[in-house]
Amino acid sequence: MTNPDRYAVIGHPISHTRSPRIHTAFAQLTGENLTYEAILSPIDGFQQVVADFFADIAAKGLNVTLPFKEQAYALCDVKSLRAKQAGAVNTLMKGKDGRLYGDNTDGVGLVRDMTQNLGWSLAGKRILVVGAGGAVRGVLGVLLAAKPAQLLIANRTHSKAQALADIFQQYGQITALRFEDIAQYSIDVVINGSSASLMGELPPLAADILAADACAYDMAYGKPKLPFLEWATAQQASTSDGLGMLIEQAAESFFIWRGVRVTTADLLAEIRQELQV
Ligand code: ATR
Repeated sequence: MTNPDRYAVIGHPISHTRSPRIHTAFAQLTGENLTYEAILSPIDGFQQVVADFFADIAAKGLNVTLPFKEQAYALCDVKSLRAKQAGAVNTLMKGKDGRLYGDNTDGVGLVRDMTQNLGWSLAGKRILVVGAGGAVRGVLGVLLAAKPAQLLIANRTHSKAQALADIFQQYGQITALRFEDIAQYSIDVVINGSSASLMGELPPLAADILAADACAYDMAYGKPKLPFLEWATAQQASTSDGLGMLIEQAAESFFIWRGVRVTTADLLAEIRQELQV
């Protein structure tokens, strides 16, 4: 057998990452000959760590996680539309031409989890996204491409939601709202992309904003009880945490690097059991 190709995830911190677990499982499932490691980069040394990694001829691709996704974007020679929309890159690939290619698979991971794994519809629906940080910017372009009837965005700091709406209006209809104005709408799909859940907090969402048969997705995962999903369950919504998004964004990176699509359902169930969430 030839030597394996090398892949890794880079972040700071990195000890919590599930990416080596996921990509090693993908490689086993598909028979791809590769290794995947976790690399801790110093906060001020990201560019050097990337250069050192790709100096190895076996090194083919990197995932990039917090806080380096914007720096990764700046490093790329070629960027996908998804990366440009996100202003951030989570997947780097060294091309045969020696150039560094950057993509962002977070949005497609979210949409694939909602539509394919959970069977939710987005086309023609009124979608509300809560939050306006990097995580939300990473998914808005792909959400608009799913052709919702309307995309609304609300954030604790309203000006940031307005700034994102201004950036994305070239890709589809998107409206920034204050939380107190959401009640005028009947929301079909609500997505929490704020970091409130990670702090055990709930964004200021009223009890009566969801349509019948609404769906609620929290991009956070890893906690058995997310306040946003408890709120949504109390409104009789279908709910999901973001574990499937994590697996699906990884599957899309794997596809970019290897040209092979993996089936994710069994791995998602296994990791859910390991995390007990
Ligand atoms: P990330 O990379 O996870 O998106 P971020 O860029 O720091 O992180 O953004 C965090 C988002 O969560 C922001 O939209 C933030 O609101 P502000 O813009 O007002 O800071 C939102 N957020 C964090 N804690 C929150 C809370 N307790 N309630 C509501 N929104 C919260």
